[in-house]
Amino acid sequence: MEFREVVEKRSSVRSFRDESVPPDHLREMIRIAAMAPSVNNFQPWKFMVITSRDLLSKMANIVSEKIQSLPTNESLAAENIKSQVEFFATFFRDAPALIVLLMEEYESVLEKGVRMTHEEINKERNFPDLQSAGACIENLLLAAVDMGYGACWLSAPLMAANELAQLLEVEKPYRIIAFTAVGKPAHNPLPKSRKELDELIIWKE
Ligand SMILES: Cc1cc2nc3c(=O)[nH]c(=O)nc-3n(C[C@H](O)[C@H](O)[C@H](O)COP(=O)(O)O)c2cc1C
Repeated sequence: MEFREVVEKRSSVRSFRDESVPPDHLREMIRIAAMAPSVNNFQPWKFMVITSRDLLSKMANIVSEKIQSLPTNESLAAENIKSQVEFFATFFRDAPALIVLLMEEYESVLEKGVRMTHEEINKERNFPDLQSAGACIENLLLAAVDMGYGACWLSAPLMAANELAQLLEVEKPYRIIAFTAVGKPAHNPLPKSRKELDELIIWKE
């Protein structure tokens, strides 16, 4: 597929056909994801690929419980809001594959030469390792589309980040950054709404 066609065709897919994704396809998506630029070419990522129905179901249950246990505010819609978020945080339960992006923190060269902490530099630079992870996930989504799959980036399950890290045995220096559900789309994705281009650009000529 042409690059622009892939980009325009990509849309978040949250319901999938009951069809597994062959491991070599998942490997290829990850290979393309890892071509992303990263701060100082640090390549802070690791990819955990989960296809076990049992594990996905355990993960989704943990996330559901966590969301339902969150104390609600006084809003009348509070319970509804929790249920809505619960769907967006747990639909991966039925995805043929879930790729968990793990990342280790970037240590800046500056840290070795100036009186600033790791946290201070990281904040000033707007978390370059997280920015790198974003580029990597976008590559992953586009690779999935190019290969005839649909995908969705998820951060909502991180409401139960500690519990999931324990279940998945994620250990330091790694932590979970985000999830990508992958599979053959059950429906044709809806056309996406986007802001007008002129609203987005600030020219300084
Ligand atoms: C950082 C990030 C986190 C996201 N987390 C979730 C999520 O937890 N659950 C979900 O269903 N979609 C999630 N999405 C998908 C967005 O909702 C989606 O990209 C957005 O609504 C635009 O729609 P489109 O992807 O179809 O263009 C996330 C997207 C990004 C970039």
